[in-house]
Amino acid sequence: MANTHLRQKAHSILENLTLVNPYNEQEWKTQFPQTTFYSAVNDLLTVDGDCIIYNKDSYQYDTVPRQRWWNRCISAAMFYYMHPVMCREDDYQVDCVHDMGCGTNFMKLFSPVPVFGYDKHSWADSNEMWSPEFPNQHTEEFSAFVANGSLHFEQLYNFSGTVRNVVQCLKPGARAYLSLNSRMYTQYTDRDFMYSLDEDIEQVDYEFLQPASNDPDHDELLFTQSLVFRYIQEQILNYSGIRVLILDFINDPTVPNFSGSIDGNIRIVFQKL
Ligand SMILES: C[S@@+](CC[C@H](N)C(=O)[O-])C[C@H]1O[C@@H](n2cnc3c(N)ncnc32)[C@H](O)[C@@H]1O
Repeated sequence: MANTHLRQKAHSILENLTLVNPYNEQEWKTQFPQTTFYSAVNDLLTVDGDCIIYNKDSYQYDTVPRQRWWNRCISAAMFYYMHPVMCREDDYQVDCVHDMGCGTNFMKLFSPVPVFGYDKHSWADSNEMWSPEFPNQHTEEFSAFVANGSLHFEQLYNFSGTVRNVVQCLKPGARAYLSLNSRMYTQYTDRDFMYSLDEDIEQVDYEFLQPASNDPDHDELLFTQSLVFRYIQEQILNYSGIRVLILDFINDPTVPNFSGSIDGNIRIVFQKL
């Protein structure tokens, strides 16, 4: 049954979020062909029907030609966030991009700089996993860091701790891109903490929230997502020692791709000061 109060409140939260340089499809259509990523992407488009998708919400599933696709449909949106990290326009030297939770290590297909991927899979360059010890073993080592859908398998209240650990791994002036999924956070976060985010959260049926639902009338999901976004926004914009270059949220819970862990509907690029 529709809960109009939750829906209205969610929309009010979403409208009042502070975004920083969010993705703009029209602008990126003009800018992307000027980037060094573009020729690598274009080289992979070899048969009729292969295409570049510019939607903000067509994201990870379309980035890599996966076996279930007949054609290569490569999402350009991801490169908008990668670009300021890997292809710097200032004189900062990026010697290597460290990709945490690299999966198939697909950034190697597109990157103009060397990529070093960490994951448990054989595609990775290292099977060292992200852990509380990792920053102590890699303090101020990285000139660029990306994590696409790999650092959100934890409690939402650990978010600032994760940022702190990423910052510890960065050299001064280095940049990082984090792509995170609000639904993953909801699933991994203690109910008591979620309840502390807003008085109206008690109206949310958590058992119903856990399985991925793409019902457009899913007011609970919209509301919970807006609370996660608001929490992340407050934490990152108040975090000292970094400059936030991009803070972007995809606020449509009905987009099927965002039901999974692979797609980040929270996208953050920051620089260590
Ligand atoms: C949703 S997939 C994303 C893979 C890849 N980044 C991409 O965008 O296609 C999440 C990946 O994070 C990895 N992962 C999960 N926890 C991790 C950890 N603690 N350290 C490193 N990788 C982790 C998983 O093995 C998985 O390959």
